[in-house]
Amino acid sequence: MVNKSALLLFVTSFLLWSCGNDAAPENGPSVAEVSEAQARNLYIRKCSLCHGDDGKLGASKSPDLSISNMSLEERIALITYGKGTMPGQKGILNKAEIQAVARYVESFRN
Ligand code: HEC
Repeated sequence: MVNKSALLLFVTSFLLWSCGNDAAPENGPSVAEVSEAQARNLYIRKCSLCHGDDGKLGASKSPDLSISNMSLEERIALITYGKGTMPGQKGILNKAEIQAVARYVESFRN
């Protein structure tokens, strides 16, 4: 037999659980803005291995980001899903972080 408070507890924990699933990985910001310093930090950790600190390294046959003319939307999609040897960041970085990193790489353009 299920009493009312047990049912309420179940519903509440289910709601909390589904909220939790939306939360950012690694306690990152969810919808909050990502600062430029944070974006730079993410880039250094996740991207500079192949693209270099200035976007020009070209390791793993990666293109020079300083001469890339890909649009912001295209970059967001590419960073989210990856392509070829470039790993996608879906489930690793949250949307706000992916957007911030996509904006950050534009700073390499001359
Ligand atoms: C393992 C190496 C590797 C890592 C790490 C990596 N990339 Fe890439 N990146 C590549 C390769 C290879 C391509 C070319 C993909 C293709 O077109 O086949 C590429 C393409 C790109 C492009 C498109 C440039 C153009 O004009 O074609 C952008 C922008 C980019 N990467 C940004 C990033 C960002 C931001 C990160 C970090 C979140 C990142 N990359 C991490 C290897 C890497």
